[in-house]
Amino acid sequence: MPSVLITGANRGIGLELVRLFAQNAWRVFACCRAPEKAADLQQLAADFKGNMTVHSLEVTDSLSIDALAQSLKEETLDLLVNNAGIMGGERQGVQEMDFGAWEETFRVNTIAPFRIFQGFLPNLKRSSAPKVATISSQMGSLSRESAGAYAYRSSKAAVNKVMQTLACEMAMENFIITLFHPGWVKTDMGGAHADITASESAAGLYEKMSNLEPGDNGKFFIWNGEEHPW
Ligand SMILES: NC(=O)c1ccc[n+]([C@@H]2O[C@H](COP(=O)([O-])OP(=O)(O)OC[C@H]3O[C@@H](n4cnc5c(N)ncnc54)[C@H](OP(=O)(O)O)[C@@H]3O)[C@@H](O)[C@H]2O)c1
Repeated sequence: MPSVLITGANRGIGLELVRLFAQNAWRVFACCRAPEKAADLQQLAADFKGNMTVHSLEVTDSLSIDALAQSLKEETLDLLVNNAGIMGGERQGVQEMDFGAWEETFRVNTIAPFRIFQGFLPNLKRSSAPKVATISSQMGSLSRESAGAYAYRSSKAAVNKVMQTLACEMAMENFIITLFHPGWVKTDMGGAHADITASESAAGLYEKMSNLEPGDNGKFFIWNGEEHPW
């Protein structure tokens, strides 16, 4: 049974990814900040009792990452999905910028995916074909010119570079490290007017993430499996 660890699993795209991986008989380690409040996730864990567990994880906290890594140290991880993310606050403009929120956005969207990769590297190395999929955004693409959302855009552009660099470094060890734009998705983040539902996005993401090949290492994909321009 292949295994996957997913961050930010209590709502939005993360929750739908958990559902799909569990339905398709993956061993799922579903992570969120407050498992006791994650009613939908706990219901899924009850539905898929044999192959899914819920774990506490604050992605910016190295103690939280270390504690989970320690409790899972005997487990093999075939796929790590860095999904947890934040928008970066209301004030992200030239006239008014919340610099504290910008820093927090980098902690969550850019630094945490690397930190989590590092924390679970021993588990990934137990896999014969270790893979990492980080949910980025088209808003971080340098070839797409658009104004505003400085904190969010820069954090996603930076995580793209972090993961591309990691892909170069880990290629010799047969890792496949990828990035995904999930679409504009109807979640708390994407809002009600977005293009697609979380289950539509997750279906496309699942299809590609579960069929990653060595040639995909270091690539940025759209949720439908097509490549995204950097
Ligand atoms: N929705 C879109 O249109 C869209 C478009 C492009 C990219 N994305 C990306 O897709 C990913 C998922 O987004 P979404 O739309 O599903 O967002 P969402 O509904 O707002 O969910 C965000 C998830 O991230 C978790 N999270 C945030 N900060 C965290 C932290 N410090 N530690 C642990 N978990 C944390 C949240 O947990 P809590 O419930 O505890 O806050 C929640 O589970 C994000 O990386 C986002 O940037 C989304």
